[in-house]
Amino acid sequence: MNVAIVGTGYVGLSTGVCLAEIGHHVTCIDHDEKKIKLLQKGTSPIFEPGLEELLQKHILSKQLHFTSSIQEGMKGSEFIILSVGTPSKKDGRVQLSELEKAAEQVGAHIEKGMIVLIKSTVPVGTCERIKQIIRNHSKNEAEFHIISNPEFLREGSAIQDTFSADRIIIGYENRDAAERVKELYRPFHAPYVLTNIRSAELIKYAANAFLATKISFINMIANLCEQVGADISEVATGVGMDARIGSDFFRAGIGYGGSCFPKDVQALIHTAEDENIDFSLLKETVAINERQQQILLKKAENVLGDLQGKKIALLGLSFKPNTDDLRQAPSIAISRSLQERGAIITAYDPVIKKWDSASNGNVQLKNSVTDALQNADGVFLVTEWDEFRRLPWPALLETMKRPAVFDGRNCFPTEQVEACKKIEYYPIGRKPI
Ligand code: UGA
Repeated sequence: MNVAIVGTGYVGLSTGVCLAEIGHHVTCIDHDEKKIKLLQKGTSPIFEPGLEELLQKHILSKQLHFTSSIQEGMKGSEFIILSVGTPSKKDGRVQLSELEKAAEQVGAHIEKGMIVLIKSTVPVGTCERIKQIIRNHSKNEAEFHIISNPEFLREGSAIQDTFSADRIIIGYENRDAAERVKELYRPFHAPYVLTNIRSAELIKYAANAFLATKISFINMIANLCEQVGADISEVATGVGMDARIGSDFFRAGIGYGGSCFPKDVQALIHTAEDENIDFSLLKETVAINERQQQILLKKAENVLGDLQGKKIALLGLSFKPNTDDLRQAPSIAISRSLQERGAIITAYDPVIKKWDSASNGNVQLKNSVTDALQNADGVFLVTEWDEFRRLPWPALLETMKRPAVFDGRNCFPTEQVEACKKIEYYPIGRKPI
């Protein structure tokens, strides 16, 4: 089947290479010509495990093409997938201008029978609006179909998630179009959930908001564990084994970040508000998360006292491992607060090599953990990159002024804590050592 994908962010690109892998002919479209040139050469503009490999494989197999022209990309395509960004406005509502612009251009080239899938995360009612925009810009009044098709890929495991999806949501008006979409995705062997368009739009927000709430809940339980002498990993295991609750997304830490949870929770609060529903539960999810991002700072102040002039090393900056995404990363909130308190901040991240100190907090980026830790009064483990688990910790701690480890992800290997005689170890939701 021939597929055009508008928008080459991590969703559009991951979807594109995976559809090529299952045998479709895919053209990815983006107005950013620089990005298109890079992609045509087989270079991924983002760090996403497995993506570049598939990209190069299917440029060679000629199943994957890139263009900056919507007209060229849509030519001969039965499916048009819209996966452009829908960031937040200042007030937390969703910015739809890019999607609307894409819809206008799609409208100009729409042909009879084409199926337009909206993969961008959009508030309830948007797909209907997009359909109207396409129709308004269609010169030949072609009959086309619209499908709401939200995705559930996680950054850092987007390829794997596409091939082992828990479900594929198809929100439809026209049953034949929905059947064609089922055909498109059949090789993924995922169960389908067919719904009306508005349900599909809401499923996406409800899923992300629920997961964010689950994280805020376990973070509160972790804070309670510290007070009552319980251990969060034991509690989370014991609770999560109840199949009704589940153990996924139940890891306590320094709060959630990224381009999805913070934005989608806010958007859902607004959707509810527009319907005169006070979704206070979600407001609390957000408030807990904001407090949780400051938890390491509080612990450090308790242990080290005034942070003015103290040197704090951050390990990990991206909002989670295996991605170079800094959007809404807890590292930013932490750096800003450390800077406010006059701390000297050094940092190391395996993939982040650029940092905007003016807006994210004044951080000296170092090329190695060794350099970041040198003479530090304390280290914050911010992102649980695998390589941090395999470091020669006893030797590294020797180079610090004070070997105080504040572990925001409970990722410091337990045997190392025991091996490091001098360590002062402060995890989340557990007794310090
Ligand atoms: C999230 C969802 O998991 C995807 O299903 C969804 O498709 C995507 O948003 C989206 O809407 O596009 P993502 O933001 O890439 O994916 O990352 P997650 O793995 O969900 O992590 C989000 C945040 O929660 C991270 O900061 C992570 O550190 C934190 N987290 C996750 C925890 O603090 N504890 C956990 O147990 C799990």
